[in-house]
Amino acid sequence: MILVSMFSSLDQQDNLLKTCCFKMKIDTSLTMPQLPEALSQAGLQFSVATEEDFDEIMAMSQDIYGGLDYLPTRYTSWLQETNRTVILARKQGKVIALESVCVIDDGETMLVEGLRVAPQERGKGVAGVLLRFCSELVKSKHPEVKVTRLTRDDQLGPKDFQKYRIITKQGILLVRFRAEDLKLRLSELGLGGDIQSSLSTSSSIPPPVRLDHTAIHRLYLTTDLMQGVLPNATIIQDWQPFKPLPSNMAILLKKDIDWMVDDVFNPTVASLCTFPFRVPIGDDWYYLNIDMFGKDLDLARQQFLCHLQRHTATLNGHVMCQMFLDPPLWKPMAEFCHNNLSLELVKEYTEQCVVESDVI
Ligand SMILES: CC(C)(COP(=O)(O)OP(=O)(O)OC[C@H]1O[C@@H](n2cnc3c(N)ncnc32)[C@H](O)[C@@H]1OP(=O)(O)O)[C@@H](O)C(=O)NCCC(=O)NCCS
Repeated sequence: MILVSMFSSLDQQDNLLKTCCFKMKIDTSLTMPQLPEALSQAGLQFSVATEEDFDEIMAMSQDIYGGLDYLPTRYTSWLQETNRTVILARKQGKVIALESVCVIDDGETMLVEGLRVAPQERGKGVAGVLLRFCSELVKSKHPEVKVTRLTRDDQLGPKDFQKYRIITKQGILLVRFRAEDLKLRLSELGLGGDIQSSLSTSSSIPPPVRLDHTAIHRLYLTTDLMQGVLPNATIIQDWQPFKPLPSNMAILLKKDIDWMVDDVFNPTVASLCTFPFRVPIGDDWYYLNIDMFGKDLDLARQQFLCHLQRHTATLNGHVMCQMFLDPPLWKPMAEFCHNNLSLELVKEYTEQCVVESDVI
């Protein structure tokens, strides 16, 4: 029997976890007897993360994603999300790993995010144990959960393919620029100021349309127009894969995102731009993430330009812009970024891969 099933009601489990975990460290050897022996002996303890843990988590996250970690910006809001739990693993009282689990898709999917293990503890199976602990915890609180989903950008191996089904893949294009330089470049190209009207005069394609909440709702939930646009019927927003369901839209519409399509009545390309946020690499460094869906390069370029113009207008400093797009669009889009916009390509082609496994 695992720890969480020892409690008589779900609320009790919640309260106990939230109020007691830090004081009464939970010994995994008591709660998960199936853990690898070495780890049970190592005495990992699990707890729900709180604001007070922030500094310790940041200390163990220092090398993560080459200084482009999103967690410092997201941490406080993650703790407040009612469908999310952030779990820490400790060893001798010290935080050595973190994982966040979020229940989405009408309660059917457990989304795993933020997974990290302190550098000195990697390669010992800690991530696997934490993943299993969190899975058991979510199963006990949400028995209706059927699958686990996560988004990876590392090379998947044969073991991963045995474990996971691939839901969809997007190419990752990472470019870097100074906001001031890009503004100049865009105005040189005649794309400063009101870019939508500049695009309508400089191009034969009608300018893209920014969607308000009503239009998003109509397009994504009441029509099947997005079927041919979304990759495997998945809205991926800043690494999070959502099925187009009303419960997920309620989550998405609370976030700072610009939603765009080329044509509200007959969409071919759609994009979601997550508002820029700071990353720890330096004081004036921002991350700008654009999820692009659809296969038409010209339309994708137009929406990219609109997002760039709109979101760098008030920024000063360095921007790491990450665009996720249909893999065949990666190369021509990279060339466009380099040749036309003078943006620096940070890395070669990599993939964002949404994977899924059954919860058993
Ligand atoms: C990726 C990381 C969490 C792995 O931690 P670890 O304790 O060394 O993991 P191990 O190599 O011992 O592998 C243990 C398990 O984690 C799984 N795993 C490894 N990388 C993973 C990843 N990126 N996402 C999900 N699971 C992963 C392995 O498949 C393995 O599962 P299994 O026990 O079912 O076989 C760790 O290297 C790390 O913190 N890296 C920096 C942050 C990062 O890249 N996080 C991934 C975000 S997607």
